[in-house]
Amino acid sequence: MKALILSGGAGTRLRPITHTSAKQLVPVANKPVLFYGLESIAEAGVTEVGIVVGDTAEEIKAAVGDGSAWGIEVTYLPQEAPLGLAHAVLIARDFLAEDDFVMYLGDNFIVGGISGLVEAFRAERPAAQILLTQVSDPRSFGVAELNGAGDVVGLEEKPEHPKSDLALVGVYLFSPAVHEAVRAIEPSPRGELEITHAIQWLIEQGRDVRSTTIDGYWKDTGNVADMLEVNRSVLERVEADIAGKVDQASEIIGRVRIDAGAEVVASRIVGPAVVGAGAVISSSYVGPFTSIAEGCRIEDSEIEYSIVLENASVIGVSRVEASLIGRHVEITPSPRVPAAHRLVIGDYSKVQISS
Ligand code: G1P
Repeated sequence: MKALILSGGAGTRLRPITHTSAKQLVPVANKPVLFYGLESIAEAGVTEVGIVVGDTAEEIKAAVGDGSAWGIEVTYLPQEAPLGLAHAVLIARDFLAEDDFVMYLGDNFIVGGISGLVEAFRAERPAAQILLTQVSDPRSFGVAELNGAGDVVGLEEKPEHPKSDLALVGVYLFSPAVHEAVRAIEPSPRGELEITHAIQWLIEQGRDVRSTTIDGYWKDTGNVADMLEVNRSVLERVEADIAGKVDQASEIIGRVRIDAGAEVVASRIVGPAVVGAGAVISSSYVGPFTSIAEGCRIEDSEIEYSIVLENASVIGVSRVEASLIGRHVEITPSPRVPAAHRLVIGDYSKVQISS
């Protein structure tokens, strides 16, 4: 069994964060989404991993390296343009050879790993095994239609009128039968070779396509509320660990992880929360479900239920809530006179001001 991780794509849905970084590297509880996928694959005992990369190849390579950090061996497979998930399978043909494989979309987050699924697939070896989950708006996903017996009878890619609320999750298990399928299909209206169509082709050929429905799923739908929620659910499981420096005047309550090299001065942190290496929290309150990344500075401020990415600073701001703050962002109070907001905001940013 091999793994094929898809790590190309532009990440338009998570702009502006993905203007400057690959969507697979957006952090959840201070760890890139992609790393959770790599951990799940390694945990399932899969060691030969192909990563399909596009425009952000260098960034992905710098973050993942040769995979030895996870005990896996990574082969990078460049895709010249984002021509679809089935196209990624086409270009990975030599790497995949005649092996079964798990295809994992690097921007998907699945709570609870994939070990059970991989084991079941190994034992039964259907042509394909898909994962489904209930979503409130299926129109931005592949959507499955099941019959009364629970068999998959049809799949549609981003339908305007979905036949169910069961979305295709970005983890698929395939036998080599998929190679014929990806060669048989034509590009979709969005100009991509859709894996959804390749699986539909397998169904039409009478091949064994099975599905499992799961809970605990997130993808980069561009919805910041969802991202804060996945951050919250991961922080629910964070272990208390204070490796950084906390002074006498500070108070740490509940499960808080403060990484080595971080510093907390005259502040109150109520977990679950994580503070990355080199971050400095001073004279501030950090509330539950907050991830403060490496190198951030939180000073004379209050922040809660938020994600702050690397090297951002929040200084003298009385309350920040339910926010996603990008890398190297600076948030400071404006001068008292004139009483006005002063903004330097990048393209596609979203700002809500309480005034
Ligand atoms: C792709 C698939 C879609 C699936 C989704 C899961 O969509 O085409 O069927 O539901 O991944 O992440 P895309 O991310 O290309 O919009």
